[in-house]
Order: sequence, then structure tokens, then C-alpha cells
Amino acid sequence: MKVMVVGGGGREHAIIKKLKENKQITELYALPGNGGMANDATLVAIGAKELDKICDFAVENKIDFAVVAPDDPLVLGLVDRLNQVGIECFGPTKNAAIIEGSKKFSKDLMKKYGIPTAKYQSFTDLDKALSYLDEQQAPIVVKADGLALGKGVIIAQTIEEAKQAVVEMMQNGKFGDSGNTVVIEEFLEGPEVSVLAFTDGNIVVPMVSSMDHKRAKDGDQGLNTGGMGTIAPNPYYTQEIAKQCDKLIFKPTIEAMKKEGRTFKGCLYFGLMITKNGPKVIEYNCRFGDPETQVVLPLLKSDLLTIMQKTARGTLDYSDVEFSSDSACCVIMASNGYPESYQKGYVIEQNDNIDGEIYYAGAKLNQGKLLTDGGRVLGVTCTDKNLKSAIKKAYEQIDKVTFDKAYYRKDIGARALKALED
Ligand code: AMP
Ligand code: GLY
Repeated sequence: MKVMVVGGGGREHAIIKKLKENKQITELYALPGNGGMANDATLVAIGAKELDKICDFAVENKIDFAVVAPDDPLVLGLVDRLNQVGIECFGPTKNAAIIEGSKKFSKDLMKKYGIPTAKYQSFTDLDKALSYLDEQQAPIVVKADGLALGKGVIIAQTIEEAKQAVVEMMQNGKFGDSGNTVVIEEFLEGPEVSVLAFTDGNIVVPMVSSMDHKRAKDGDQGLNTGGMGTIAPNPYYTQEIAKQCDKLIFKPTIEAMKKEGRTFKGCLYFGLMITKNGPKVIEYNCRFGDPETQVVLPLLKSDLLTIMQKTARGTLDYSDVEFSSDSACCVIMASNGYPESYQKGYVIEQNDNIDGEIYYAGAKLNQGKLLTDGGRVLGVTCTDKNLKSAIKKAYEQIDKVTFDKAYYRKDIGARALKALED
């Protein structure tokens, strides 16, 4: 069987490694993938947003199944395009991917169907947005409507700062068309939980919960990044909270999308905040999270290809998805300076006997050598019986991978461990 995975980061590497456990797969392609995955998949130099080329490649190479992992091609409608040329796909169609592609859409959906989320107003008119802010109190949150590489959310500590953010987005075009519409919403407080869920449009099967660490520096200081590490499961996601989420958030969201004529099939990511008034949705993503996938998939006991095929076909069953009761920790090794400026091109050395998985993100092959090629270079994931030992193991193993100017947070999972002790 020939399978292709669209995307090129650590998340895609984790998907590829998990898919490889299925021996029916004889050929596995990554478009474009990255040099660090070369032992696990055949790299094809086609970018994730080159829809025409991707479709041509799939047809010419008689691909049996495609996985579209990143947000951009999903929102652009790659799944629709591949389906049109007869390729079966894992991932939502364009009209369902809008749940991530437009924050106004997702907020309006939640309001219409009574799904708990922060109170909000959306604006297409700058003056109206500014005068609305005059009546609000800080802190307050300003969000660009469309995709903005994870940078379109501003937590403003003062109304003045919120106004500046609105002007940057609506007048100065900071995020291009993504900022033509803005959502201004209430600031919520509480621990955050990521829950990825498989859904075939009929049922929704949550995976093990996880916790991202978005800030660059220890103690959740510094700039926001694409994610500096993850742990799973997330101790704040108790059985009681899980029950509430299933009843008040997961099932209603799937039903709402169906009622809107936008049946969602694929992986739906629920970004949740556990507030003192219960769990609320911070954001939906129409895809696996990065680096959440790097801790969630290593704990999956079931066959990923089977789940993905059943998801695409609308025949998923709860019993298809089984997770280990172990814990996992992923520590991201980044180039020093990320998420601002950093140097690339350093040689990555890796000890052969690593007791864990390395998922490459920003790496490239050059004359047989693996070189750093991005801000987030790789992630080291370890699993173990409990969270404490998984974290300890991840930090022991990470020392077996080196490159010049490497930087990683030293406290991934520390807050989760403290929550377990409290
Ligand atoms: P997003 O890009 O939507 O994931 O938002 C980035 C981060 O901003 C989230 O992970 C939260 O930490 C924070 N955030 C987003 N919306 C809110 C809100 N309404 N209240 C507090 N924090 C928020
Ligand atoms: N880790 C956050 C995301 O994938 O959007």
C-alpha cells in the first residue's frame, strides 16, 4: 500500500513513524518532509501548499491513502482536491476546516449551539472595534480572524495595547487578509489542556489529553513559540472534566458542524481552558497539534492507518482507538534565538542508542550530514510508567543529541508534576 503524508515538521514525523508500524504500507512518502525523516519516508520536494503538484504526484504514483497534516493545505481545500482525483484522504474538507480557518466562524458556531467559550464580539470596521474597546476592561484578547502562523492572538494588558493590536491588524495589515476581521474576547483564566480527537463526522473519540508549553523560556516566560515541549496525559484533565467536555463541548461541536452542512472528518483539536466556571473552548484546530502529536501518538496502541481509514470512511468505532496508560514527555530542541533570529546549518550529532524517539522538524540533509534548518529543530519523546519518570527519561536522552547553539527548556512538565502533587 502506498501512503503519503503532506507536511514537514515534527508532527508529521510522529505520524509517519506511527504509520510505519503497519506492515501493509510498502511505500511512505513525505511532501516535503525534512532531512531528519529520510530514514522513515521517501522525501518528495513538493511544498504543502502546492495543491496542483500534490494532486499530480498522488495520481502519477497511484497513492492509496493520503494524510494532510498542516492547517494551510486543509484550509485551502487540499482534501477536496485529492478526493476529486480519486485519492482517499485523512483530514477535513475545506468547508469543515473553516473551524480553524476563521475564528469568527468558530465563535459564531459556539454561540449558536451553546458551546462554552469566552464572550466576544467580531468586527470588520476599525472604528467600531476601537469604540467597543473603550467600553471594555483589560486584560482583553484580540484575535485575527484567519490563519496567522500561530501569532494572531494578542493578550492585551491595557485597553491602549488592545487598540494598538486592532490597528496593526485592521489598518496596517500585519497578518494580511487574516486580520481584516478581528475577534475581541474576554480574557479567561485557568490551566490549559489540549485534546485531540478522531472524528468520522458521526462519533468523536478523544485521544489522551496533553499540555503544551508555548513560551520560549523556563517558568513560562519569554515570547510565544510554536511549542517548546509537551506532556501527556494532562493532570488537569480529570475524569470529571473529561465527562463534562464530552457532553458540553466534543459531541455538540460534531453535531453542530453536521447541522451546518460541514461534517468534520479527521483530527479535531480542542484547545481548552479549565476555568472556575468549567471547561471552555479557547480555540479549535482542524488538525493534529504540534508538538502535542509527538506525545499523543507514541501512547496510541491501536493501528493508526486503520483509524485514519475508518475516520475517512465514516465507520469509526470507539473500540478502534486504544491508548496506553503510560505517560509521555517531549522536549523540543531549538536553535538559540528562536522564535526571533537564529543561525542555521549546524551539524546534528545523534548517539545511536537513544531510548526514545527523535522527531525532526527543522533539519536538512547535506552531503550525508544532517544540519539544523529551522527554529525548532527536533523533539525528543520518551514514554514511561508515570509522568515523573517520562520527564526524567526525556531529559537524560536529550543529552545524546547535540548541535551548536542548541537551546531547550529545562522545565517541561514541571507544572504538571506540581499539579499532581497538589
Ligand atoms: P491560540 O493561537 O488561539 O491558540 O491562542 C494562543 C494562546 O493565547 C492560547 O493558548 C492561550 O494561552 C491564549 N488565549 C487565547 N484566548 C484566550 C482567552 N480568551 N483568554 C486567555 N488566554 C487566551
Ligand atoms: N501546539 C499548538 C498547535 O498545534 O496549534
